[in-house]
Amino acid sequence: MKYDVCIIGGCGHVGLPLAILLASKGKEVCVYDTNEEAIELTKAGIIPFTEEGAEPLLKQVLKSNKLHFSATPDVVTESEIAVLIIGTPVDEHLNPKFRIMKNVIDELVPYLYDGQLLVLRSTVYPGLSKRINDWFVEAGKNIHVAFCPERILEGKALEEMENLPQIISSFTEEGVQRASALFSLLTKDLVVVEPMEAELAKLFTNSWRYLKFAIANQFYMIANDFDLDFYNIYHAMTHNYNRTKDFPRPGFAAGPCLFKDTMQLSAFHNNNFFLGHTAMLINEGLPNYVVSQLGKQYTLSEKKIGILGMAFKAESDDIRESLSYKLKKILEIEAKQVLCADPYVKDATLADEKTVLQESDIIIIAAPHKRYKELKIKDKKVVDIWNILNNGGKI
Ligand SMILES: NC(=O)c1ccc[n+]([C@@H]2O[C@H](COP(=O)([O-])OP(=O)(O)OC[C@H]3O[C@@H](n4cnc5c(N)ncnc54)[C@H](O)[C@@H]3O)[C@@H](O)[C@H]2O)c1
Repeated sequence: MKYDVCIIGGCGHVGLPLAILLASKGKEVCVYDTNEEAIELTKAGIIPFTEEGAEPLLKQVLKSNKLHFSATPDVVTESEIAVLIIGTPVDEHLNPKFRIMKNVIDELVPYLYDGQLLVLRSTVYPGLSKRINDWFVEAGKNIHVAFCPERILEGKALEEMENLPQIISSFTEEGVQRASALFSLLTKDLVVVEPMEAELAKLFTNSWRYLKFAIANQFYMIANDFDLDFYNIYHAMTHNYNRTKDFPRPGFAAGPCLFKDTMQLSAFHNNNFFLGHTAMLINEGLPNYVVSQLGKQYTLSEKKIGILGMAFKAESDDIRESLSYKLKKILEIEAKQVLCADPYVKDATLADEKTVLQESDIIIIAAPHKRYKELKIKDKKVVDIWNILNNGGKI
């Protein structure tokens, strides 16, 4: 075989770090991705998104000629193992978009060969790995299907991938053995379970995190409604008290994973995941809450409002499902003008930070980029739910 591993979706946020890491371990890795622009950037040694510490390692593996690229699926046939890591979003009804995965599998069938290992690395709706396994059987293909979910924190993939235990599952014993051998290149800490258990382990983990952020946001709103600064209460709750050590700070909880994975779990349980739906209403309602609170204090139609931080989280350029954009949309109806900036995000509609700071009457810090800690904002209303300026979080 020409390649040890082919990463399908290999230029994506989780595909590329895995490809680089495996190549750095001496494997011949082929990145297959339909995004030709991302392939060109990566070939030139540029990571198409922010990913801590990835560029030096990318340059190193390009130099050693261990990383290869293709925009067509024929390379799958030349690979010992195929790893599939494409996006798995939900639709406008908050149900998984199964069609995306079905189309990819249909496209791959002619290129996969009997005895090949296909590792599903995307987060999937429970039972989908089994359906995929069945589709291969129906197509007369004898593929070892494994499901081994990715659990890294976006932006910290390289640091985390070797430190996190890897969850391994497959429908065949050989699949378990070969997937275990692949991931033991990253860590010796492997957890072998059944495919459906692995699917739920991933969805439970993300939903649990989403719920934790929701309770912080709910408490924040309760405190604020009683004219109290949540951060005084937060300090009282967490200071030298181990049982609240992992209590998160409030703030916009969004991005391409937590929301949609909570909704996938809910869809799986016939929309009876009440905690998940409630968490969604709280987290998605926070931008509306901010605007309604400001509306009680100001005539917004006379105010220019500045939003700092458009990415869905700190030190990231990723705007997928970012609540900063939802906030912008709401304010565009309510306010005189909305000016937005973000040092990482490439978006031609954004202004520069200086203009936002100078021209806005009210500033909202929507993503807690570290650099905002240094901001000195005088004589303006600042909404700082994250308390990044250390002046409290009251609106
Ligand atoms: N982003 C994260 O931090 C993270 C963490 C853990 C798990 N996940 C899961 O991993 C999966 C991928 O997420 P992501 O953020 O990397 O998505 P992404 O959109 O960044 O990457 C997907 C890549 O797949 C490519 N692609 C799409 N269709 C293709 C096809 N038919 N053939 C070849 N390439 C194709 C895209 O061009 C893109 O580069 C999702 O299921 C997500 O839930 C993501």
